[in-house]
This record gives sequence, structure tokens and C-alpha cells, in this order.
Amino acid sequence: MQNAFFDEKQTKKKLSKFILNKKRLSMDNYCVKFEKKFAKFHNSKYAVFFNSGSSSNLAILQTLLNLKKIKVGDSIAFSSLTWATNVMPIIQLGFKPIPVDINKENLNIKESVINNLKNCKALFVTNALGFCSDLQEIKKICKKKKIILIEDNAEALGTINTNNKLTGSYGEMSSFSFFVAHHMSTIEGGMVITNDFKKYEMLKMVRSNGWDRQLSLRTQKNLQNKYNTDTFYSKYTFYNLAYNLRPTEINAFIGLEQLKKLKKNLLQRNRIFFKIYKSYLKNNNLVNLSFEKIKFFSPFSFPVICKTNSYKNKLLKKFLKNKVECRPMIAGNITFQPFYKNIFKKQNLPNCEFVHKNGFYFGIHPEMTNKQINLLKKLFS
Ligand SMILES: Cc1ncc(COP(=O)(O)O)c(C=O)c1O
Repeated sequence: MQNAFFDEKQTKKKLSKFILNKKRLSMDNYCVKFEKKFAKFHNSKYAVFFNSGSSSNLAILQTLLNLKKIKVGDSIAFSSLTWATNVMPIIQLGFKPIPVDINKENLNIKESVINNLKNCKALFVTNALGFCSDLQEIKKICKKKKIILIEDNAEALGTINTNNKLTGSYGEMSSFSFFVAHHMSTIEGGMVITNDFKKYEMLKMVRSNGWDRQLSLRTQKNLQNKYNTDTFYSKYTFYNLAYNLRPTEINAFIGLEQLKKLKKNLLQRNRIFFKIYKSYLKNNNLVNLSFEKIKFFSPFSFPVICKTNSYKNKLLKKFLKNKVECRPMIAGNITFQPFYKNIFKKQNLPNCEFVHKNGFYFGIHPEMTNKQINLLKKLFS
């Protein structure tokens, strides 16, 4: 990402004015407004705003634990091509992590692998780099096998699948990240959406110390009756295990501003991606990407998957020499990371290993110039 925000100058101007005039900057009415608007964008009943995508993932698992939907020691499967803080809370909260292999062509979980999962209580799918697998089918298999489906949609905000649904619409809870490098930035920030009222209430508790202040009056009353607290002590009663993962009004204000421009932002990303992809397709040393299950592709980066490691090294060198910032494919095979392999045995994940060795990516942002686009096209040819 070249800038912190889409339409950076205008957004920063408005932000300065907002800060000067807003008395309370800790979590307040703008956070609620942003949650409502985001939930509406996603056709979801509820949304809970967090201080990061990582916090959102942590809160999802703590919510399931607090609601006794899963218990310590249960197995949770996850996409092996994902971000560290998608996997870390699985380990930190005492679950057993089960990595699942991906398809090379869309970087997402292989639907068939889910059929082979044994005694798995939840599946954390990552819709990597704007792509998705057949989420409808994944949801169906999960339902049959009584697996709780959770989506990490931090990298695919706005992707619409061939069933005409936004990615993030399939999980019992789905997380998003608004870190600067993602589709839409609130500097730092994250969101969880859900259609389940009990999960919504618990997410808000997990976000704020385990107390009941942001909950509905009915839930507050129920808790106060159950735990026999009076109105003096109730505000300082901590009902459940929780954290402080709160965002601020500053993040919410930016979120509301960026949300107004989100459609334009995503259309531009999509247009730029496919301009460059035309050149990618002509290069026989690269693996064609699969958009089979996608109706509208919402990229925040451009994955380059080479057929061989030697070609990857050659191409990467060329990109870097031309000052294109590149990075490993997300963080590569996440089970190769020290935090993971220091605890768990090596697993057989051939496609993820392939992408780890033969892939890299560079950013796509909506305000790329024609000069930048042409350079990228040239590098592929
Ligand atoms: C798939 C995925 N999940 C979660 C996160 C974490 O988001 P954040 O940086 O907002 O904590 C990222 C960050 O890049 C990500 O790519």
C-alpha cells in the first residue's frame, strides 16, 4: 500500500477536523455507527469493531470457548497459508491446531480435505489474497460433520463468489483487518461479523474486560440477576474471560469515511489487477490462477506463482531490481515458522510447500499509476 488511506489527503483533512471537535475519543458512538454500516455492507445482522484483525481472531476463539461451543484440547483446523495470528490463538487458548493444505491455483483450502478431518470441532478458513474456494460446499461439509466454520476474511474484503455472496458471509463468525496494507484502512483495526445474537454479545464482552457495558439492556439485566450484582457494582463486574481489544473513535471515523469510498476502491483494485494479469497469463513459466468460484475478485495484492524455484528466484530478482516491493506469499507455509515448528511435528502439505518455495507477491493498491502498471506488465513479459 502506497498511502495509509484511499483518497489520503481528503481523509486526513477530515480526520484532523474530527479530532479537534470530538470530545470523547475512546470507544463511543462512532464505533457503533461504523459497526452498523459495516454490518449493512455485509448483509450481516451484527458487527463488532476491534483494534486489529489479530484481536478479532483471538476474540472469535475466546467467544466460542466462553459460550462452551468448544473446549480446551479440541482440534481446530486452519488453512496452512495464513497469517501467524490466525494460528497463534488456537495454540495460546489450548486447542490442537490441524493445518490443512491448499490449492496451488487459488491459495485456498481444498474442499475435499475437510471430508478427511477427524474429530475436528472448528475450521478456520482463510480467504487468502482475495481468492476463495467453494465456500458453499465447505459450509455444507462442515454442517454435515458438525464443524464450526469460521472465516478469516482479512484479505478478501469485497470478493463475491459465484453464489452471489460476499466472502465472509459463510462463517458463524468472520474476521476482517483494516490494517494499512489491507483493502480498507483504519490505520489499525479489525471487525467480526455474525448473525448470532449470543455470539455478538459475547464478542463485545471479550473485547472489553468481560464486563457488560456494551451489551443490550436485556442481557445486562439477565447477568445482574444471575450474579446478584447491584447497580453500583455491576459496572465493575467481570463476567467472562476477556481482554481489552477496543478500537477508538479515531479508527471508527476513518472507517466510516473509507467505507463511503469502498466500492470505488475495490473496482479500481480489480481493474488494475486484471490489466497486469493479462501479461502474467502470457508467461509460460507461471502457474495460472483460478477464479473458478469467483464472480467479483477483490485483490489487495498480486500473487506470483512460478512453476519452478529457479524461475522464481530469477523473476523475484528482476522485480526487486526494478524497485517493486515484494514479499513471501503471505508468510509462506505457516507451519514452517519457528513459533509453530518448535512445538509441532512437520506435516505433509505439498501444495502449500510448493507455493512457499515458488511464490511471492507484490501489492495492488487502487491509486497505482499507469507507469507503475506498465512496469509490472513489462516485468512479466
Ligand atoms: C489472513 C490474515 N489474518 C489476520 C491478519 C491480522 O490482521 P492485523 O494486522 O489487523 O492484526 C492478517 C494481516 O495481514 C491477515 O493477512
